[in-house]
Amino acid sequence: MDYKKYITIVDDWPKKGVRFKDITTLMDNGTAYKSAVDEIVEYSKVRNIDLVVGPEARGFIVGCPVSYALEVGFAPVRKEGKLPREVIKVDYGLEYGQNVLTIHKDAIKPGQRVLITDDLLATGGTIEATIKLVEQLGGIVVGCAFLIELTYLNGRDKLEGYDVLTLMQY
Ligand code: PRP
Repeated sequence: MDYKKYITIVDDWPKKGVRFKDITTLMDNGTAYKSAVDEIVEYSKVRNIDLVVGPEARGFIVGCPVSYALEVGFAPVRKEGKLPREVIKVDYGLEYGQNVLTIHKDAIKPGQRVLITDDLLATGGTIEATIKLVEQLGGIVVGCAFLIELTYLNGRDKLEGYDVLTLMQY
């Protein structure tokens, strides 16, 4: 499917010079959203996933329907101060800013095969931090799936040695 026709480009948001890729117009379309999720499910099936992990907020939009279809759990990665129990955390750089990501300490059992999902691979800071969290808990990252990749930001450089699927490239 040509997913790009469902993405809305918003110029100068959230700041001047950024051409924001709005996925809400893809999610609005049931056929396009389902097709994108189905592609990630197919990619995941052969990788024997035990758990899906996604960073807030848009990693949930991609990861939760995938975990539902695979009948495996979903573990949220959240910004600091959002998860109620004991967490581990990691600092990361964002396309525009700096942040901390956390995951519940008991969210992953050592040896579990994990698929990480997000809407966008930009600089790769978020995915790199998420991988660190998963691996610190003993999870094995067997795949990383995104709707969109901004190739000009070279996020893939941070994912060397990992298996990556992106449905659209800009
Ligand atoms: C956006 C996007 C990815 C990340 C990609 O999330 O949803 O998670 O940035 O950028 P990177 O590859 O440069 O790290 P954001 O932190 O804006 O959070 P949100 O989904 O909660 O809006």
